[in-house]
This record gives sequence, C-alpha cells and structure tokens, in this order.
Amino acid sequence: MRVLSVVGARPQFVKLAPISHAMDAAGGIEHIVVHTGQHYDPLMSDVFFRDLSIRPPDENLGVGSGAHGAQTGAMLAGLEPLIQQHAPDWVLVYGDTNSTLAAAVAAVKLHVPVAHLEAGLRSFNRRMPEEHNRVLTDHASDLLLAPTEVAMQHLAHEGLAERSVLVGDVMTDVLYATRDRVLAEGLPLPEGVEAGKYHVATLHRPDNTDDPERLAAILDQLAALAHPVLLLVHPRLRALAAQHGITLDQGAIRAIEPLPYPELVAAVSRSAGVITDSGGLQKEAFLLRVPCTTVRPETEWVETVELGWNVLVSDELGALRAAVERPAPAPTDATPYGTGQAAAAVVRALRG
Ligand code: UD1
Repeated sequence: MRVLSVVGARPQFVKLAPISHAMDAAGGIEHIVVHTGQHYDPLMSDVFFRDLSIRPPDENLGVGSGAHGAQTGAMLAGLEPLIQQHAPDWVLVYGDTNSTLAAAVAAVKLHVPVAHLEAGLRSFNRRMPEEHNRVLTDHASDLLLAPTEVAMQHLAHEGLAERSVLVGDVMTDVLYATRDRVLAEGLPLPEGVEAGKYHVATLHRPDNTDDPERLAAILDQLAALAHPVLLLVHPRLRALAAQHGITLDQGAIRAIEPLPYPELVAAVSRSAGVITDSGGLQKEAFLLRVPCTTVRPETEWVETVELGWNVLVSDELGALRAAVERPAPAPTDATPYGTGQAAAAVVRALRG
C-alpha cells in the first residue's frame, strides 16, 4: 500500500510523527510525505522533524505565506502533479489548515481516495477559516478518522456515519511518548521560572491577533497575572503586534520564541496553567493535567471543558485574569482522547 501524507503547518508535523512511526512499524507501506511549505521558519517546521524523529519530507512545495486564496491555490496547483506522479492508494490529510483542504480537493478531483485524520471536529464558528476547512474536507473525504465520540456524532449528524471510524487522537500518542522521554531525560525548566509558578501562553488566531484593541486587552490581562507568563510568540503575533505598535513584553509577560515540541511538553507539564487560543495546546494541557484558559468563544475539544480543566473566555476579557487564577479543578482519570494507540488504529483503518 502506498500512502501520500500532506502536511504544512506546525500541528500537522506533530500528528505526522506517530502516523509515520506506526506505518514503519506495520511494514509493507510505502509512505510519501509532502510538505506544502505553509510553515517554513525553522522553529515552526524543521525542529519538529528533528525532535520527533520524522524523516525529512520527500517533496516540499515551498508555498509560503499568503492570502487564503493565493496560498490554497498555489498548494492545489503544486499537489496535483505530485499526486499523479506518485499514484498513491490513499492521500492522508491532517487537521484543518489550508494545506488540509488543498490536499483533499486536489486528490478527489483525481479520483484518489482521501482519508482525513482528525475528522468530525466542529467549533460551529463560521468566522474561523479552520471550520470551513474541516467541513469541506470531511465531506470530500472517503475515510473519516475521528478522534472522539463527539466527533463521530457530528459526522453522523452530517450524514457521514458510513465513512467514519473512531480511531482516537494521535496527538495523545505523541504527547505521552514525548512526556515519558522528557521525564526520563529531565529537561531543565525554562530559564528564570520556578516549577508550578509560571504560566505558558500562546495566541495566534486571527480573531485575537488582528484587532489591536482586542489584542491589547488580552495582553493587559496576562501582564497583570501574579506569576510570570511565558508567551511563546507565533510569527503572526510578532508581526501584528509590531504593526499595531503593541509591546509584547510587559508586566508579567516574557515574550520568547516558539518552543520545540519536547521543550513545550516539559514547560507545560511543570506550569501553573496554560492560556491559549490553540486547539492542540488545550488538549495537551488537559492530558498533562494542567488547567487551561482558552481565549475563544468555543472549543472543538468540549471534553476538556466538561471535565472542568478548560475555561473559555472571549467576550468578557476583563475576567481573563480571574479565570486563569481560579482554584484547581477536580482530578479526573477520564480518557476522552484515547490511551495513546490511535496511530496503529489509523493504519488498520487504511488497510481496511
Ligand atoms: C495555521 C492554520 C491554523 C493552525 C496554525 C498553527 C490555516 C488557515 N491556519 O495558522 O489552523 O492552528 O497554522 O500554527 O491554515 N508565518 C511566518 N513563518 C512561518 C509561518 C507563518 O512568518 O513559518 C507568518 C506569516 O506572516 C503568515 C502568518 O504567520 O502570514 C500566518 O501564517 P499562516 O500559515 O497563514 O496561518 P497560521 O496563523 O500559522
């Protein structure tokens, strides 16, 4: 069997790691990896291949940044001849980025079967580009690899039950493996902070970064926290803050470069809490049993909220600081994201 994976943005490299390793372990699978080049900074791309022991991509389209249409269009044009050339049995697409949508559309038009990893997630927020990417990709795909029961319900509701399989969440696989490695190696704490007495924060969603007033209001709240806040700055945030004349380093905030994955896992696991608008980080916080505050009106990972480990703050930004400094949640041993065996289930589903 020949599988062609298409990745392009940071969270997709993380998801590619367990899939790639599971395919190697299963044997008899030729796995071709195409990088669209959506993320190209070394800290947004190369370090993930290095740290998660993924061999370098077979092809890189070098598409880079751009408006949605130009970026997605360049990917479509670049992917079509590659899919024809490699003639895979499956094109495997990951998550909800522009790279996901482009690969799904390129493949179905060539009548090549598409499998969508992380199918069925919904925020029901039509302002998010990712929501359109997910819905369109799910409806174009032939095999929907769902991470959770809730995702399976969404797919059934949209008439896609027959194409759906519950495989669990591959980010759980890679997180547990990395956590165990980091604990064994004893990675040092980030500089200048004490265990349990700092927060980890990320912000990159257009809804939070593009409006200068909203961005300043979020940063004000973070700056006023009692413990230091390590703000891991995505290039989008760095560029927009500079454009709006907003200083990231203020009060409790320490603005630093994005962290490689093992360092991120180490930093989050010893933090007092996470503040984010990322999907993946909300879940990573939960899996490491660190409280999370999400700066969004809704989340795809509803289980983290239902179990009390994630609180959403969006309209009432004045309440953000109090939400972050809330009392600790009740312990839970629930496993809504599986036990770390999802990638093997994906390989079984692809084999049919
Ligand atoms: C993309 C995904 C988002 C995912 C995120 C993870 C879409 C629509 N969004 O958002 O779902 O959560 O990746 O990080 O696909 N930039 C650089 N260097 C890079 C990458 C980006 O400087 O290596 C800058 C560019 O100015 C670019 C901006 O960041 O315009 C945004 O990058 P883009 O890939 O368009 O979207 P993300 O915000 O990263």
